Amino acid sequence: MGKAHFGLIGLGVMGENLVLNAERNGYSSVVYNRTYAKTEDFLAGRGAGKDIVGAATLEEFVGALERPRRILMMVKAGQPVDDTIAAISPYLEEGDLLIDGGNSLYTDTERRVAELESQSFGYIGMGVSGGAKGALEGPSMMPGGTKAAYDAIEPLVRKMAAQVNDGPCVTYIGPGGAGHFVKTVHNGIEYAIEQVLAEAYDLMKRVGGMNGDQMADVLAGWNDTEELASFLVEITEVCLRTKDPETGGDLVEAIVDAAGQKGTGLWTVVSALEMGVPVPTIYAALNARVLSSLRPERLSASALIPAPPAHSFSLGSPADGMGPLRDACIAACIVSYGQGMALLQEASKLHNYNLNFSSIGQIWKGGCIIRARLLQRIQNAYGANASLPNLMLDPWFADQINRRLPGLRQVVAGAALAGIPVPCLSSTLDYIDSYRSGRLPQNLVQAMRDCFGSHTYERVDKAGSFHTEWLD
Ligand code: 6PG
Repeated sequence: MGKAHFGLIGLGVMGENLVLNAERNGYSSVVYNRTYAKTEDFLAGRGAGKDIVGAATLEEFVGALERPRRILMMVKAGQPVDDTIAAISPYLEEGDLLIDGGNSLYTDTERRVAELESQSFGYIGMGVSGGAKGALEGPSMMPGGTKAAYDAIEPLVRKMAAQVNDGPCVTYIGPGGAGHFVKTVHNGIEYAIEQVLAEAYDLMKRVGGMNGDQMADVLAGWNDTEELASFLVEITEVCLRTKDPETGGDLVEAIVDAAGQKGTGLWTVVSALEMGVPVPTIYAALNARVLSSLRPERLSASALIPAPPAHSFSLGSPADGMGPLRDACIAACIVSYGQGMALLQEASKLHNYNLNFSSIGQIWKGGCIIRARLLQRIQNAYGANASLPNLMLDPWFADQINRRLPGLRQVVAGAALAGIPVPCLSSTLDYIDSYRSGRLPQNLVQAMRDCFGSHTYERVDKAGSFHTEWLD
């Protein structure tokens, strides 16, 4: 038998599906897993009858691959990636390529690219989005590293990726950790949109008194609109419609209200804080998850701090798609993408990633978790102006924000009076109102800083740096 075209390390569900995807696209493959029993199970099960062989050792694995070797690692982010690199490196030869397809911290990827390239190996940090189904059928892929390393895997990843109207959902993202950084920001946006939809659900349930099927019907209508049609809206409809086999009630009501996370949302927010980019909607989504996990404390507080008196307000009628609530969600989704793209703009400058924002919009149109019809507009906006600082400055998006703001205000104000937390919706409103303000109250902050710390201030009427002895 000839040498295999493609190698995969790590037979978790994502790894299994990606190697099946590669094989389906004509790439004979060899797989390796730390425990060989898992490899045997896979070859006897889902891998049976395919052009896939197993290797019991890394030496055997490397020996079974054609050169330059293309090896995808699907192992847990962090130390396991470094351990895998250390274990396989002695068997690699010049020009061989390692691809990390996990959710690695982009600074780890920067370091690994530099280390591996200095040993004449290629190293790609590739964000892969789409969950298990996407991995099998066609994910969105965000590869970063040297361009030469990307060129060596381009035919493979273009075939494996989801396909949309204007091509495959993969492109060379940029050098170093660019691919993993873009994936991290993708996940920050994912957190925000998930939280926006959770807030919409809470409002429909608590203010509208609606059940799962009624809410799902509204979501189905939203999924028919250009502004909201998306994978996350689609699966929210499914989640709301699904019944609990044990009770017959809505399954979502049987689930504990404490959300976990694996780190990418946190990294998005930490990066944004470090880079000085405001991402309050994404931050609110992250905080909402963290706060939700303080369940025992919340239960104690609920006994001490009662809700305000009942306050009813209109979310719109289900027959017309709950107009104000829909508009609030549209504004928050637009702003979530906008904050993520603004963060990418800054990272691109800081790290010389030279990101192509229009292409990022394109590769997120299919395969990934945040795929949405709106991404065509994002692609167009950056196609028209590659250095657009904020989506809200694009005419189409500015018009959308103007049209959706009354609904957003109505919903946030009503929720505040009813004592229902809507962290992403209210952060979105504050963000928009701050962003559209020609004058903010930070003049007073500057005055205070100068008052107690002589930090100086600038004046509106003349250039220079000024100090006042405020306390004399
Ligand atoms: C994707 C997802 C995926 C991520 C999960 C879990 O794009 O396919 O982003 O990579 O790992 O969504 O993320 P959390 O556990 O942090 O919610």
